[in-house]
Amino acid sequence: MAYVIKKGNLPATPHTEFYAIPNVLALEEIHGSYGFNGPYTRKMHLRSYPTEQSKLPKIADFSLFAKTASDKVLQPYHVLSQNIPYEKDFVRSRKPLMVGAKTIVSVSKPKISMNENEFFRNGERHEIIYVQNGNGTLKTEYGELDFRKGLYLIIPKGTIYKVDLTSPEAFFFIIESQFPIIFPPHYMNKDGQATLMAPIVETEIEVPKFLEPIDKTGEYTLYVKHNGGNVTVITLSHHPFDIAGWEGALYPFGFHIDNHHGISREIHTAPPVRQTFQSGDGNSYGFSVCSFKAQMEGWHPKDIPAPYAHSNVDSDEVLFFSSSHYTAREGVIGAGSITLHPGALPHSPHGDAALKSMKERAKVNDMLAVMIDTFFEDLLITDIGYEYRDKEYALSWYKAKKG
Ligand SMILES: [Fe+2]
Repeated sequence: MAYVIKKGNLPATPHTEFYAIPNVLALEEIHGSYGFNGPYTRKMHLRSYPTEQSKLPKIADFSLFAKTASDKVLQPYHVLSQNIPYEKDFVRSRKPLMVGAKTIVSVSKPKISMNENEFFRNGERHEIIYVQNGNGTLKTEYGELDFRKGLYLIIPKGTIYKVDLTSPEAFFFIIESQFPIIFPPHYMNKDGQATLMAPIVETEIEVPKFLEPIDKTGEYTLYVKHNGGNVTVITLSHHPFDIAGWEGALYPFGFHIDNHHGISREIHTAPPVRQTFQSGDGNSYGFSVCSFKAQMEGWHPKDIPAPYAHSNVDSDEVLFFSSSHYTAREGVIGAGSITLHPGALPHSPHGDAALKSMKERAKVNDMLAVMIDTFFEDLLITDIGYEYRDKEYALSWYKAKKG
């Protein structure tokens, strides 16, 4: 995300003397990626370094490990995440469902806000959080973002945040990656601006509303996820939202799925036109994220809107169905369903979905789904994903054909 933003108060020249409080030297921190070479943000703390812990760190009373299921049979999965109960807060409700070496797919279905003085930092993965249901506020050291259904929240690794609800419950679909989340580079010009042919416009991001820094001492609990799901409790001596100002290109932001402006053509169009985000190099590592939202189907007089069967041998594919309307799998999936189609198997529409789809020719469909395609990375089902699986999903194409 090379869209540089400046909020609050900072010195005009980086790393020079600056006072947000008279006679108290403000302290600079760089939140950076790819070593010192990737996108970064400069933050000015009012008076305390982020390293000031008032108690020795300890392991938390919960963990976020993704334990893979013991069943290693090759098969497509359908996880009914809509059946996972709502419970606890955003952090303690996180449940990994699919896991790879660099990528983790989870849901969180909290019922309550996080405690006032408790915060979270994913120390090992950048995050995309898609809001399936619920309202509230993502509160971060960079400011606040109100969320609602359909919003993607992009949270860089290392960001301190908390999630507060204004609805009785909320449902989040979470994608974690070792690599930063960006708009697809092939949709950007060489200066980092979305091209005029791109389905996304970078200026439609929602940036955090900057708030006055909090100048408070006390005991502030920070849960840090690290080393594959371990959670360590860090006790800070001061409130972590003590930023007088920040500037840079690495910060949390929102992007609503409705702002993915589809590209259609006369005949069926492959998913890359629906690509909204990329993590990694877009070729050999990381993944792409596509938004399946309402879009005009092909208008060729003989177009078949349903996709072809496909074997993307270098990708494992995860689809989160935000709505139950999805031409190729209508009737099999429901809102909240998550499918995992490993690259080792082809996948396709079922039964007479191709035939039925012809009535949608040249019409705007009503799909709403989020897709992840990994690049050369296998995803395995976790024990929780396995528990909530549709046990006969591998037979769903055969059963649909039989009627
Ligand atoms: Fe697919």
